[in-house]
Amino acid sequence: MPDQQSILVLHGPNLNLLGVREPQHYGADTLASINERLVALGQAHGIRVECFQSNREYELIERVHATLTDGTAWIVINPAAFTHTSVALRDAIAGVKKPFVEVHLSNVHAREAFRHHSYFSDLAAGVICGLGARGYEFALQHALAQLQTAS
Ligand code: DQA
Repeated sequence: MPDQQSILVLHGPNLNLLGVREPQHYGADTLASINERLVALGQAHGIRVECFQSNREYELIERVHATLTDGTAWIVINPAAFTHTSVALRDAIAGVKKPFVEVHLSNVHAREAFRHHSYFSDLAAGVICGLGARGYEFALQHALAQLQTAS
């Protein structure tokens, strides 16, 4: 187990298309620019932030499993469409027992009915939706504050 604690930011399917994809819902920021800001915010607090995106459910599940041994203390996750479909990813995150914040760029409750249900929200420490890319920063700030309180 590494000495230093870290925070893992997980991005689900299609979030690699941020900047191009439906900007009316998801804004103009690219995933790379969002990740850069999150890593810098972590650095400013002396905490390593790792970002991982995949379009594949099993890769996200495997990455969640890896948190058991890689020093991850908190997870910030936007499961994207898997929010509404993936019992498997939910079970993975429940299985590793890491505290996490669920983030959505768009206000899923103001959109289609199928986006109103999340397989993650009842397990999450908190849920942020509708605040665009800044939602990730608010979620990370919460995780950083919790880590600093605990240490
Ligand atoms: C999303 C909302 C989901 O409903 C959608 O499938 C996404 C992105 C969001 O960030 O607003 O891919 O999680």
